[in-house]
Amino acid sequence: MPVRSYFPTLLYRAPLQSAGLTRLNADLAAECRQLRDFDAAGRRWSAKNYPGGYTSYASMNELHRFSSTFAALEKKLLRHARAYARALEFDLRGRTVRLSDCWVNIMPPTAAHSLHLHPLSFISGTYYVVTPRGCPGLKFEDPRLSKFMAAPPRLPTAAPAHVTFPARAGDVVLFESWLRHEVPANRVAEERISISFNFSWS
Ligand SMILES: [Fe+2]
Repeated sequence: MPVRSYFPTLLYRAPLQSAGLTRLNADLAAECRQLRDFDAAGRRWSAKNYPGGYTSYASMNELHRFSSTFAALEKKLLRHARAYARALEFDLRGRTVRLSDCWVNIMPPTAAHSLHLHPLSFISGTYYVVTPRGCPGLKFEDPRLSKFMAAPPRLPTAAPAHVTFPARAGDVVLFESWLRHEVPANRVAEERISISFNFSWS
């Protein structure tokens, strides 16, 4: 066959660690909820920009610098991010992958996070802390979608234009920061908690 595939999009998903996730996630969930109670500026920002939910994205987005629990998470995330950067065949020119931003997202029922990407970063990701059964996953969009123009629809056997990773507590998901993604509305009664982050190379 004279046709080959080029320009692949690589996504990463793995358990953060092989054991001890229940305890770690309980500690993280407690800190995330404490943060929401404490962070009045973040609650105000979320009321405008993250309807129905809470995010510390605009108020406390360097949590790994202020909390030993998050600093321990940073160490573990870096192992995954460095493995992903190797799979992407980045030449870091003597630099290394670092965690630049790290923030909390709490999505009660009805909260959603519309389609977006993460500017000013090269690898981004999410770690799942509390994922009630039936809560929404992370939906990625084929980066070629805006360029399909006059193409006909594709057969059911073709790769889909969207792929959704289920949210599973204890999983790390990593993607290149330019890849657009969203979290559909949470339709279950309990809140979903995740921690998102960006990496730099410096
Ligand atoms: Fe995101």
